[in-house]
Amino acid sequence: MNLRERLFNAQGEPVAPPPSEPPPSVNGHIPAGAEEQAREPAAPESRQPEKASLAERLRESAAAPSAPGGALREQRPTESHRGDPFASLKTRVHRACIDKLGSQLFGAAIDDDLTEVVRQTVEEELTADRTPLTRDEHSRLVREITDDILGYGPLEPMLEDDSITEVMVNAFDRIYVERAGKLEPTQVAFLDNAHLMRIIDKIVSQVGRRIDEASPMVDARLPDGSRVNAIIPPLSLKGPTLTIRKFSRDPYSMHDLIGFGTLSQRSADFLAACVRGQLNVLITGGTGTGKTTMLNAVSSFIPNEERIVTIEDAAELQMQQEHVVTLESRPPNIEGKGEIRIRELVRNALRMRPDRIVVGEVRGNETLDMLQAMNTGHEGSLTTIHANSPRDGLARLETLVLTAGVDLPLRAIREQISSAFDLILHLTRLVDGSRRVSHITEVLRMESDVITLQDLFLARPPDESGFETGPVSLLGELEYCGLKPHFLDKLSANGVNLPPEFFAVDESDLARASVARFRRLGA
Ligand SMILES: Nc1ncnc2c1ncn2[C@@H]1O[C@H](COP(=O)(O)OP(=O)(O)O)[C@@H](O)[C@H]1O
Ligand SMILES: [Mg+2]
Repeated sequence: MNLRERLFNAQGEPVAPPPSEPPPSVNGHIPAGAEEQAREPAAPESRQPEKASLAERLRESAAAPSAPGGALREQRPTESHRGDPFASLKTRVHRACIDKLGSQLFGAAIDDDLTEVVRQTVEEELTADRTPLTRDEHSRLVREITDDILGYGPLEPMLEDDSITEVMVNAFDRIYVERAGKLEPTQVAFLDNAHLMRIIDKIVSQVGRRIDEASPMVDARLPDGSRVNAIIPPLSLKGPTLTIRKFSRDPYSMHDLIGFGTLSQRSADFLAACVRGQLNVLITGGTGTGKTTMLNAVSSFIPNEERIVTIEDAAELQMQQEHVVTLESRPPNIEGKGEIRIRELVRNALRMRPDRIVVGEVRGNETLDMLQAMNTGHEGSLTTIHANSPRDGLARLETLVLTAGVDLPLRAIREQISSAFDLILHLTRLVDGSRRVSHITEVLRMESDVITLQDLFLARPPDESGFETGPVSLLGELEYCGLKPHFLDKLSANGVNLPPEFFAVDESDLARASVARFRRLGA
């Protein structure tokens, strides 16, 4: 029996929610939680007043004598306290089993053998604990603890649902997900804080870390690559919280992004030529505008025979090429030692004979190293930076170099930036949640003290002031501005020739081109 089947079986228990409400998840813990709620209608003041939550509906149905929940309440008249009465027992046994099974648990795939080993260990530990239990309680506990050890409890169905990109556990009974860029509340819940804590413990111990009062904040990763952040009291006030950024098994390709209307076919063809022709490209945008997604898509244009080194804080990029080395920085351990930052990795990457260096995001003292690498023959590098416009991206690079304590005159830093990057691609998130490329901008040389930028493709808001004034609700098509980029020579030196037709502009393009600005903005 696989995990899914076991979870389904768990639903066959006599604690299923009322038939009028289909169970919100295929997880055995929901009915168990329902049981808790059903048993204690007398303590409603401790619950959040949330209309029509699962708990609410179950309590109502429990009050109705004909509903199955009501029958259940009568079955267990003695258990009237809040929370799982076995919470601490479960935690003890769970911990003991994890200690005992150790690496055996996390290396192996979950198959019938492993399930049986875990079940037996739970059995033994539960017996060894000597807490008096009825036979039913004993077998229920064995099943629940085994499920928790092998899986992620109530999180399981959400982790398997590919349409969910993020899972946010604000409290054990308050879980939100992000689907297609939008936040949604869910009806899924843990039994109580102790239950949530057990799952967090499990996730964290999988990567060999601990979470407790001494180190109440941990980043971890699920075996499928999803990133997990857990933070517990005393830092989070109301109880443990968990945030999971799911690893997309099938990341968006350039084709997908064109389909979403994020950019046009023509601009994508143009980007393909730029990447093949070894331009250094900077992707800018705010948080969650899709910079990493775009970096991943753009990097698919790197020819397969080139050697790529990727450097990230948490590996998100998924290169399709064969010749790839993936590096990930390391945070300091509890004693504050052993940290390896992006900067060290960039320096190390230079000794690895890379054709391309792809840095997930620049945000620290690695910036100058990146610039120097690009200026000393490591062409075709790609990276992202958090910024509100292409121009802001340049300013942010400058700030990062300066805050790293580099003793260089501002002008020299700008020189480095302008000769390092050839192209900036800016992403904007519209009010409706869609992501758009709003600028494809060429970085030109310095003129007096200022770096000159030239927009090659632009998506304009209906009124031109839109970019500077907060969230954008509407953007026009991403259109070619009609100006030939200055880096065409560099492209052809690298064997990439864009045909002259590519730059042909039709009547309507010409009209727009007159609007296209050869922008020279102050720093
Ligand atoms: N073009 C797009 N259209 C729709 N959703 C997108 C697009 N690009 C990214 N996303 C989604 O937005 C979220 C954040 O994307 P990500 O690339 O990590 O952003 P950033 O790196 O800018 O913080 C992800 O869930 C991703 O699936
Ligand atoms: Mg990112």
